[in-house]
Amino acid sequence: MTTTIETNNTNTNEPAFPMPRDGKCPFDPPPAGQAAQKEAPLTRVTMWDGSRPWFVTRYAEQRALLSDPRISADISNPGYPSPAPRPKGSGSPLSFILMDDPEHARLRRMVTAPFMVKRIEAMRPGVQKIIDDLLDEMLAGPKPADLVQAFALPMPSLVICQLLGVPYSDHDFFQKNSNVIIKRGVSPEDQGTAMGALIGYLHQLLTLKLEQPGDDIFTDLARRVDAGDITAADAAQMGVLLLIAGHETTANMIALGTLALLENPEQLARLRDSQDPALITSAVEELLRYLTITHDGRKRIATADIDIAGQTIKAGDGVIIATDLGNRDPEAFEDPDTLDLERDARHHVAFGFGVHQCLGQPLARMELQLAYTTLLRRIPTMALATTLDQVPFKNDASVYGVYELPVTW
Ligand code: HEM
Repeated sequence: MTTTIETNNTNTNEPAFPMPRDGKCPFDPPPAGQAAQKEAPLTRVTMWDGSRPWFVTRYAEQRALLSDPRISADISNPGYPSPAPRPKGSGSPLSFILMDDPEHARLRRMVTAPFMVKRIEAMRPGVQKIIDDLLDEMLAGPKPADLVQAFALPMPSLVICQLLGVPYSDHDFFQKNSNVIIKRGVSPEDQGTAMGALIGYLHQLLTLKLEQPGDDIFTDLARRVDAGDITAADAAQMGVLLLIAGHETTANMIALGTLALLENPEQLARLRDSQDPALITSAVEELLRYLTITHDGRKRIATADIDIAGQTIKAGDGVIIATDLGNRDPEAFEDPDTLDLERDARHHVAFGFGVHQCLGQPLARMELQLAYTTLLRRIPTMALATTLDQVPFKNDASVYGVYELPVTW
């Protein structure tokens, strides 16, 4: 069931949030957001429930607020800017991403080691094999093929399943439920059901890991539950966070990034024909910046008054930090609406900033570097098998991307 979210916008100068994109410019932030950025670094938006959180549009203010200890990510604070009604009693359903220190740091530390650069780099050959096998299969099949189903979704899903110790054979189940959780406008009941199903599944898996241990993150978490370091409920919620964050985001970046390259053939050719590791690195950073797929903003709430950019954010005010706009701020990136794979975009905020900055970024970077370069080199004649206006974009999800990407070669 999908709920239609009515916006109670009494002030016409304050756009409703989330904002619609311009269908003709599917890679650009919504026009209302771009207008707000030109107007001021801090404006207001109106939510479905009539609340009016601050809307932070510019890069400098975004980084300042994301690293300010007076800004909380704790969803249980009254006034937290929720883009839709939330399931009752759901607490902090996505574990430490919605918590503050010291509890956030305590839980995050338990799963930091497997995502460190050195450990992730050691996984490169295994990930390359997954990529090659999937592309072998796709190339042996009929044309056109849907790149999302054939490659973009299974690739990061197989990798995160291996790392976490989740059977990939259950992917239909967890992908179906994570899609409900990240969809905009889903009723609280349906969200609660999807979350409950995933939590139940991970509870069982954690129990199983004690009987049949593996060399994976969930075995480690199960041992921590057994030792009393973390409750079973907290471990299951952390599992849901890692499972969803681990494949949805990277999968959308692979498909949407490939589409952006196909729409910018000169840039595509430059990446395809280069062996320069520096270009591969900068291309991935630039695609992350340009597309900012976590396009619903970082949501926060102030716990004390904060003076910034000539405004006072009062304690208890909701704040939406629109990183899709920050990544297109001309003060931070020259000619920001141009995709330029050679630019130095490392300072982008596509992985967030501050204590909640993405835990999985070394993994995402490595996967994207291998995915784009292998795709382009193995299928140099790859082309979109439809027109851009026929591509189904994920305008109804909190992580942006495409539902399907028909390609031919
Ligand atoms: C291209 C892929 C990815 C993008 C664009 C992305 C983006 C983000 C962003 C923007 C945040 C900050 C959230 C906030 O401040 O509210 C975040 C946090 C997080 N990400 Fe990612 N992510 C990606 C891949 C991954 C992967 C592969 C994992 C692996 C499990 C992962 C795990 C996490 C976790 C656990 C957090 C919470 C960190 C914390 O609260 O301390 N992400 N991600």
